[in-house]
Amino acid sequence: MRKKLVAGNWKMNGSLTENEALINSLIHRSARFQSVQVAVIPPYPYLAQAQQLLHSSTIVWGAQDVSLETGYGAFTGEVNAGMLKDFGCEYVIVGHSERRQRHHETDQQVARKAKIAVDNHLKPIVCVGETLAEREKGETLSVLSRQIDAVLNTLAIEQLQQVVLAYEPIWAIGTGKSATVQQVQEVHQTLRQRVESLDWVSAQELNILYGGSVKPSNALELMSLPDVDGALVGGASLVAEDFIAIIEAAA
Ligand code: PGA
Repeated sequence: MRKKLVAGNWKMNGSLTENEALINSLIHRSARFQSVQVAVIPPYPYLAQAQQLLHSSTIVWGAQDVSLETGYGAFTGEVNAGMLKDFGCEYVIVGHSERRQRHHETDQQVARKAKIAVDNHLKPIVCVGETLAEREKGETLSVLSRQIDAVLNTLAIEQLQQVVLAYEPIWAIGTGKSATVQQVQEVHQTLRQRVESLDWVSAQELNILYGGSVKPSNALELMSLPDVDGALVGGASLVAEDFIAIIEAAA
């Protein structure tokens, strides 16, 4: 039985004061949902704060990206996996569409980041998703196959158990427009089957999150789908009440 994961991707939001209030509220109000793993994913500078506030709670934390560089040295602006481990991160998002699009990250780079994460005992949350144009052209499943195959071909089979996938249709991110339950289930099932073709056990244990305008009003129907194992939540994860309602829907 897979334990659902609800992760809040804060993106470039927050301040010391706001984070403290939000985290304290989550600690207090999410404790009763033991069947769900809750994670917060703040910007890099706030990882120390997350670690300090959350270390004795059941909520875990992670980072929004990791460098392709694994060493130390002259890489201005980069943050390596070892540094994320220093701050107690359990997860790291790789291949978010905002990074694929704005920073031109390729499937191969995303796959390498996923491998770097696993090699360093971090669990990568690998984001995949199609644009609206790709969906309208009927290319959704081929785009997703290309994205996921890059990762599956880069990781060793035994590393697959450390991976979390997140299906985030780009047209649903931050738009208020989430995918329909049929669209979500079709994609999640296809992703699981793809992993199943390599390793049955990993596929059964694989957490496949849905992301893209998840909110209290649509969380229950999304979280009830057989191949949806949680959510990657952007906007709604910044409002304690909304995030808690999504956690409750997953419980
Ligand atoms: P959203 O973002 O919930 O604000 O649509 C999700 C994401 O980008 O991870």
